Amino acid sequence: MELRTERMVLRRLGEAHRADMIAFYGDAEVMAIRKYGARDAAAASLAIDVALEHWQAHGFGLFAAHDGESGEFMGECGLRYVDDGDVVEVSYGLFPRFQGSGLATEGARACLDFGFRTLGLPLIVAYSRADNVASHRVLEKIGMEFMGREDRGTHGVVRYEARREP
Ligand SMILES: CC(C)(COP(=O)(O)OP(=O)(O)OC[C@H]1O[C@@H](n2cnc3c(N)ncnc32)[C@H](O)[C@@H]1OP(=O)(O)O)[C@@H](O)C(=O)NCCC(=O)NCCS
Repeated sequence: MELRTERMVLRRLGEAHRADMIAFYGDAEVMAIRKYGARDAAAASLAIDVALEHWQAHGFGLFAAHDGESGEFMGECGLRYVDDGDVVEVSYGLFPRFQGSGLATEGARACLDFGFRTLGLPLIVAYSRADNVASHRVLEKIGMEFMGREDRGTHGVVRYEARREP
């Protein structure tokens, strides 16, 4: 399955994306600000296995994000259970050359719409490192509400929420 936005195609993550995703999860610049840091190929592959199983178990998950015109792989976005499966989080990230032109916002918004309209989720959250200002801005632009800071891990995270409109 896939979602289309104005500039992107978001494709259900599959085996075909493994090499691209290993490169993405191994990119020091992309991962420096993320909660878990850059991953070597083995750790990245394990994370991809988890993401593929998530799709199998729940019928939704991460998408591989591609340029809608050139087809180039840009990064990821999607939805997944967090907090021991209690709640669904929106997640996104792009290679640096695709950042800064609203693409993360476009992808994240499509994922939120998919979660609320297609999946009927009542609540979607996002956890972002407290110092990841660009990510906070993305969450604000897609209409999510800042809920506060939590001391998780070494950096602290902030939690945002959005609820399905009645
Ligand atoms: C966070 C990330 C996805 C943003 O991607 P992007 O394509 O640049 O995002 P957008 O262009 O849609 O929006 C970014 C917003 O943050 C703002 N921004 C970027 N860097 C900023 C900074 N250092 N301080 C303040 N605002 C900043 C931009 O100006 C823009 O806001 P605006 O439209 O009001 O001007 C990207 O930096 C990334 O992939 N980072 C690594 C992975 C990651 O952190 N993922 C999120 C994990 S929670």
